[in-house]
Amino acid sequence: MHSCAPTDLRGAAPNETIRVLLERRSIRAFSPDPIDPASVQSLESAAQHAATSRYFNEWSAIRVTDPKIAQAIAQEAGQDYIVQAPLLYIFLADQRRNADLVAAENPDADMDADSFNLNSSYVFLQSENDAVLALHAMETAAYSLGLGCVILGSVLNDPDELIELLQLPKLVYPVLGLAIGKPAQGPALKPRMPRPAQIFENSYRRPSEDEIGEALSDFDETVFRYYRDIRHMDAPRKTFRQIIADKAFGQENAHHPMAPSIERQGFDWTR
Ligand SMILES: Cc1cc2nc3c(=O)[nH]c(=O)nc-3n(C[C@H](O)[C@H](O)[C@H](O)COP(=O)(O)O)c2cc1C
Repeated sequence: MHSCAPTDLRGAAPNETIRVLLERRSIRAFSPDPIDPASVQSLESAAQHAATSRYFNEWSAIRVTDPKIAQAIAQEAGQDYIVQAPLLYIFLADQRRNADLVAAENPDADMDADSFNLNSSYVFLQSENDAVLALHAMETAAYSLGLGCVILGSVLNDPDELIELLQLPKLVYPVLGLAIGKPAQGPALKPRMPRPAQIFENSYRRPSEDEIGEALSDFDETVFRYYRDIRHMDAPRKTFRQIIADKAFGQENAHHPMAPSIERQGFDWTR
């Protein structure tokens, strides 16, 4: 297994789209300049044109413009830069709209019946997929306009509080946030692992011990050097395997279970 970073095309990207994708990095400091309305429209249209499972259009997004709501989200997420960003979206898995359409079409429809499908685990996962694809389209569009973004899993630190804050009805569940703005920092690209360790041919391939020893060790070193020499972050300087090993166990690294709140929103994990 040889080292082959996905960024190895940089400088020779075959087109502008791929250059934007290869130069993407998370931005966590934003200038206060607002984003012009035409750009906001472009970003939202790009999101809406993402693929959607079975054409169900089973995602929504909330543009958060109320500073009090943004502040509450930032506080819960423990990430100040969320309020700095001039544009903030929370992407949602959304079967509410489709269920309402069904009810409008057939007022006798029984949404508690076993035959009701819009609350199944499959549909929930497809809604999550839709939301993530839409978010990613918006993220890429933002970078192509010279903006920067950070995806926010931290908005799910307390899903119930977010659900209440955003008044999400049943059959709607928060997926991720996306903070967007003009970058006020230029962080170095974070290294990626050797491609053969991540992209396989025809079947799953666990690396042999030798391969882990060689190629992934190189990657480990690269990650360590990245934090030590390039990023100069307060973050502990660790190899990749230390980062994973340190978080693999322990109460403080465990996210509290999400299934109960997903079920409270009306999705049925068992179906
Ligand atoms: C699903 C998901 C959730 C994330 N959540 C957060 C977050 O809550 N806060 C944050 O600062 N970065 C978050 N990130 C950004 C990752 O930390 C970042 O993508 C990763 O460290 C790689 O760095 P890069 O984006 O600069 O290449 C998230 C990324 C993804 C894909």
